[in-house]
Amino acid sequence: MPHVVLETHTPLYRIVERTEPFVVEEEGTVWRMRDVFLNRDDTHGLAECLVVVGGRLERFFVHLAQREEDGAIVVRPYPVPRIDPQPSVKRMVALVAEALTAADPDTHVARSTIEEFLSDRWVWRPDPEPSEWDPMLPSRGLPRPLDWGVVFGSPGPVEIEIGSGKGTFLVESAAARPDHRFLSIEWALPYAEHVRDRIRRRGLENVRVARADAARFLGEHVRPGSVRAIHVYFPDPWPKKRHQKRRLMQPGFVSAAAEALEEAGELRFVTDHEEYFEEARAALAAEPSLEEAPVLEGEMTDLTNYERKYRAEGRPIHRARFVKRGGAPDGARRPPR
Ligand SMILES: C[S@@+](CC[C@H](N)C(=O)[O-])C[C@H]1O[C@@H](n2cnc3c(N)ncnc32)[C@H](O)[C@@H]1O
Repeated sequence: MPHVVLETHTPLYRIVERTEPFVVEEEGTVWRMRDVFLNRDDTHGLAECLVVVGGRLERFFVHLAQREEDGAIVVRPYPVPRIDPQPSVKRMVALVAEALTAADPDTHVARSTIEEFLSDRWVWRPDPEPSEWDPMLPSRGLPRPLDWGVVFGSPGPVEIEIGSGKGTFLVESAAARPDHRFLSIEWALPYAEHVRDRIRRRGLENVRVARADAARFLGEHVRPGSVRAIHVYFPDPWPKKRHQKRRLMQPGFVSAAAEALEEAGELRFVTDHEEYFEEARAALAAEPSLEEAPVLEGEMTDLTNYERKYRAEGRPIHRARFVKRGGAPDGARRPPR
């Protein structure tokens, strides 16, 4: 039976709440997911789906079930087909599974019997004649890994800002260093869209935005050793004990970031939260390919929106810089200020 298993720790109803209805058109076929209906205890759902293939409309449901034992969600056609369903139904199941993963950073495809119907088979390419230039990367079908030359259409070192919020650091840095290429990885859609609009207004052709979870995006789409600098400024501190597992700067993220960096590339981290700072610094120091480098007085004080606000409040600000080992001596190839 065709199905996709999604690994997650998020309750099904939370994912469904954030899942947007969608329409996808590919090679003359239209796939549309309308509403998702949940049962009373929120453990099962039915996604109402319409497919127009060869001018014929088919309406059916895709079933979502969250398993009690491990929280995984199984996505499959409903009712269970007796014979192998048509490719259009399998593609619909894959699209619904992908819509759920796009709605929640903690939800991933773990297994699938319809591998060839998942979107990674459809490789995204920039539109050669866009009607309106869009610096936002699509959320589906991105190559693994990305080719920076294709993404930016120009050469130059790549710098990534994670969680760029309203985008002041990103926009100012991209304007100041036009020979560098900047990527914002921002999870929140309203911020990603806000940054996209700022980039368009400033006409900055060396910036792109990925609306994605940073650890996942680095691991899946960034070629190892291809990034000059990673900027992490004022990541959410999640101060409550029970929320601390949501913090960005954890060993999994640190190793993905270290892998993405080129030799002598660096990760810069700034926060006002002392306890998070020490925890993150310990995680960075434990990564064998990274080495801490000094932050000199007046360095790394580029203004992000949070830095501006917290400085005005007189809060102490903590800064750390870690360099990827194995390259030029410390300081020889730092990103220009
Ligand atoms: C406290 S704000 C800081 C914004 C900005 N760096 C500044 O200093 O003004 C943290 C930002 O990180 C984003 N964010 C949180 N977790 C993320 C993740 N896993 N991947 C990408 N962005 C994330 C949030 O949406 C938010 O925009």
